[in-house]
Amino acid sequence: MPSKELRIGLVGYGFMGRTHSNGYKRACDFFDLEYRPVLKAVCGRTEKRVKEFAEHWQYESWETDWKKMIARDDIDAIDICTANDTHAEIAIAAAEAGKMVLCEKPLARTTAEAEPMVAAVEKAGVKNTVWYNYRRLPAVTLAKQLIDSGKLGRIFHYRANFLQDWTISEDLPQGGEGLWRLDVAAAGSGVTGDLLAHCIDTAMWLNGGINRVTARTETFIKERKHNLTGKVEKVGIDDACLFMCDFDNGSLGLFESTRYARGHKALYTFEINGEHASIKWDLHDLNRLEYFDHRDESIVRGWRSIHVSDGDQPYMGNWWVPGLCIGYEHSFVHQVADFLKDLETGATTQPDFRNALETAKVCDAVLSSGKDGAWHDTGVKI
Ligand SMILES: NC(=O)c1ccc[n+]([C@@H]2O[C@H](COP(=O)([O-])OP(=O)(O)OC[C@H]3O[C@@H](n4cnc5c(N)ncnc54)[C@H](O)[C@@H]3O)[C@@H](O)[C@H]2O)c1
Repeated sequence: MPSKELRIGLVGYGFMGRTHSNGYKRACDFFDLEYRPVLKAVCGRTEKRVKEFAEHWQYESWETDWKKMIARDDIDAIDICTANDTHAEIAIAAAEAGKMVLCEKPLARTTAEAEPMVAAVEKAGVKNTVWYNYRRLPAVTLAKQLIDSGKLGRIFHYRANFLQDWTISEDLPQGGEGLWRLDVAAAGSGVTGDLLAHCIDTAMWLNGGINRVTARTETFIKERKHNLTGKVEKVGIDDACLFMCDFDNGSLGLFESTRYARGHKALYTFEINGEHASIKWDLHDLNRLEYFDHRDESIVRGWRSIHVSDGDQPYMGNWWVPGLCIGYEHSFVHQVADFLKDLETGATTQPDFRNALETAKVCDAVLSSGKDGAWHDTGVKI
């Protein structure tokens, strides 16, 4: 039974506000933890809606100003689930107030904006993490274990895609609720910071640092009506981005993301080819890891489809019985559980702000290369 409390103040009650709230509510039901999250307060700007959210998810209280929430002494950790342009201000204020900070990805809109966030949490000495949650899907964690155990041998290729199709219509406006991702001022970038940031985080976790990149970005719809000004304005985000890169270990990377791939809603896939073996993963079939091992006896050699659901596979011993699946939402439950376990042991929870800064550096280099077409060093140090 958990004997200690971690009192949460959540900022933002949209998509991520819901996934995180679910994670806080479920973690102690399935993991053996000393700390129990307490849903102390939720903050949103619209009183009626934040109150409804608080009632639905059983938060003890609600606020309409995050500064007031940070000032409360009955809250230990601030969880940032707002649009990207608000992350830095909230995170720095929370750290300065001595609160732990859990921040949604991307850490900030740019590396320059993210750097003071890293400095703030490190100066305050507060525990911090960034919700690159795909690391915590069991099949992805298993991929990490296979690579770290040396099963793939020397890695030659890393390939990742993140494909969507929801912004193809030129009638879709930019900006404001639900559409801040199309507004460069709120989002910082388009698919690079929103989708490729996930791919880059997973890639550097699995395969080490990315040291240089060359990219091609495109904005297919050049102008859209802006919901906040009512005027037709230039679109400043990248609708699509393709980049090539070099990893520190000598392997080559190829990444593609777009919101213009008709038929694809959230097709996140990666494939890694090593000297002895290859692995592939697909978010649409998230419990499976495809594995090919050249060392298998030739007459039965082929791609194996590993259903990652057995008790000795990552995280799965905490869930049902072998053969039964878990879903997307469990990656957030796992991140909460890992954060609480690390709080107990004193370990850092990866990715922390410093580690997420490395992803921001790659995104910046990709966007710079998208402008001039040159190779850009990332400055990543992992
Ligand atoms: N880890 C993931 O897989 C994942 C998935 C989706 C989004 N995200 C990230 O999560 C963050 C939020 O995305 P979302 O999809 O939940 O967006 P959303 O639009 O669904 O919700 C954003 C929320 O922030 C609130 N908000 C904005 N400014 C605020 C302020 N100043 N004070 C209080 N509330 C404010 C909005 O009202 C809304 O409730 C983004 O940084 C996004 O990149 C991560």
